[in-house]
Amino acid sequence: MSLTREVARRRTFAIISHPDAGKTTLTEKLLLFAGAIQIAGSVKARKASRHASSDWMEIEKQRGISVASSVMQMEYRDCVINLLDTPGHQDFSEDTYRVLTAVDAALMVIDAANGVEPQTKRLLQVCRARNTPILTFINKLDREVREPLDLLSEIESHLGMDTVPFSWPVGMGRSFGGVFDIRQGRMRVFRAGQERRHDDEDEFIEGLDNPEIARRYGDAYAKAREEIELIQAASPEFDHEAFLGGKQTPVFFGSAINNFGVQEVLDALVDLAPHPGPRQAVQREVQPDEPRFSGVVFKVQANMDPAHRDRVAFVRVSSGRFERGMKLKIARNGKEMRPNNVVSFLSQRRELLDEAYAGDIIGIPNHGVLQLGDVLTEGEHLQFTGLPFFAPELFQAVEVKDPLRTKQLRIGLTQLGEEGAIQVFRPEAGGGALLLGAVGQLQFEVVAHRLKTEYGVEARLMPSRYNMARWFTAEDPKVLQKFMSSNAANIAYDVVDAPAFLASSPAQLRVAQELYPGIEFHAMREHG
Ligand code: G4P
Repeated sequence: MSLTREVARRRTFAIISHPDAGKTTLTEKLLLFAGAIQIAGSVKARKASRHASSDWMEIEKQRGISVASSVMQMEYRDCVINLLDTPGHQDFSEDTYRVLTAVDAALMVIDAANGVEPQTKRLLQVCRARNTPILTFINKLDREVREPLDLLSEIESHLGMDTVPFSWPVGMGRSFGGVFDIRQGRMRVFRAGQERRHDDEDEFIEGLDNPEIARRYGDAYAKAREEIELIQAASPEFDHEAFLGGKQTPVFFGSAINNFGVQEVLDALVDLAPHPGPRQAVQREVQPDEPRFSGVVFKVQANMDPAHRDRVAFVRVSSGRFERGMKLKIARNGKEMRPNNVVSFLSQRRELLDEAYAGDIIGIPNHGVLQLGDVLTEGEHLQFTGLPFFAPELFQAVEVKDPLRTKQLRIGLTQLGEEGAIQVFRPEAGGGALLLGAVGQLQFEVVAHRLKTEYGVEARLMPSRYNMARWFTAEDPKVLQKFMSSNAANIAYDVVDAPAFLASSPAQLRVAQELYPGIEFHAMREHG
């Protein structure tokens, strides 16, 4: 098959939601409907308890699990679908933002009882900033939930994009009758249960005016009909270009646990979501179907076995064809590698991979050679921008209990920093303890635990007076120099030696901004 054809049949998307909206359930059902797994329950069973996330064992387990199940590939119709899971816990949201840089579309799952929740809002901001097309699945219609019209207007106000319902619920909770497929003009009758594999086993009633619907669903039908007429008059027509540009989102209603509405979403991914497109590198635009391979490391994860300290670098293929054993160059340092045991993620089983194309995700086991943001090519020097690091909001100073382990502490923190598990800052004023910066409190706990189990270091974490950081740049080197020498006590370098200004309050930052108008302060740093 030609490269162009391989690219055209790829769909790479992330599934995002607030915890408990039904992301795991829907993921599993998508795999089931695509025929990638046989029995429901296998993804779910692997999901570690959400409620015990501060339990060390659970953290360990989750890390192991997410290596295996955070990327899933399945074939459906004539397409290859790559589905990237995003961590639900907000303390790991930085990870999620980076995952979003590796996809071409996102599927947003919303709990119809709760609407748009905080975690979803943050993720949406990232999608919006990147104009990522978003498909929306409103879940749990088998429960008493909120009015669908309210949900749509809430989504519109948070997304800043128009919603275009493809289906509409008839009733909800105990009176949930099914969904009316607005485009096909027929109602899909709801049947509870988790057994079905194909929506074509469903019962359909043709036509919105069909007296059979009215007879069976009475008031719920009358209400749905009124609403459908209303949205048909008020909602814009679905415009594929507007969807691709992140200006419209198609909306589907269903109940994932009951396998209801799942196939519609799967078909929409194939029919509506874009195939991998060009990626902008600093040097040039890279086309997905150009012959030479290039890819970006968007996630690094420690492997199951702490004794070996091996890690898996997750690489999104940007162009060309990847073949096992091919020689690759790391653009950052020109080093060469010839990865042989590269894995793909076919429906959660890690399998040895033979080839991959733009849009695919490959996992390269390594011992720290690959870092977040690294670009791999067949030799060309390419840098891709856009892998975000966010300014931490929580800081702790870190010291080692046994001074003889200082070196191990540095090694451990450097590696964990490169992996993106935490941000590590080295204060400019020498001699000070290293500072750890995090977006969520849980990151500190994970890092302390991993320092102990993987590096044999008992770290002591202590409160720090800082709670804000801003990377800074200036056009005029003299201005930069002056700022740095006058504020040495507040300056620290991150893992790639980018300088940051640390402040203990927003007021302190404001003062610095007023005193040094020539300095630009950044809440986000893009790798590359
Ligand atoms: P998450 O990954 O987004 O965190 O959500 P997950 O799929 O784990 O689903 C959260 C809860 O919502 C689960 O219940 C799940 O069974 C339930 N759920 C998912 N889809 C539907 C649906 O369509 N209708 C209804 N009524 N419930 C749904 P749980 O009790 O927390 O877990 P479990 O005991 O079922 O595993």
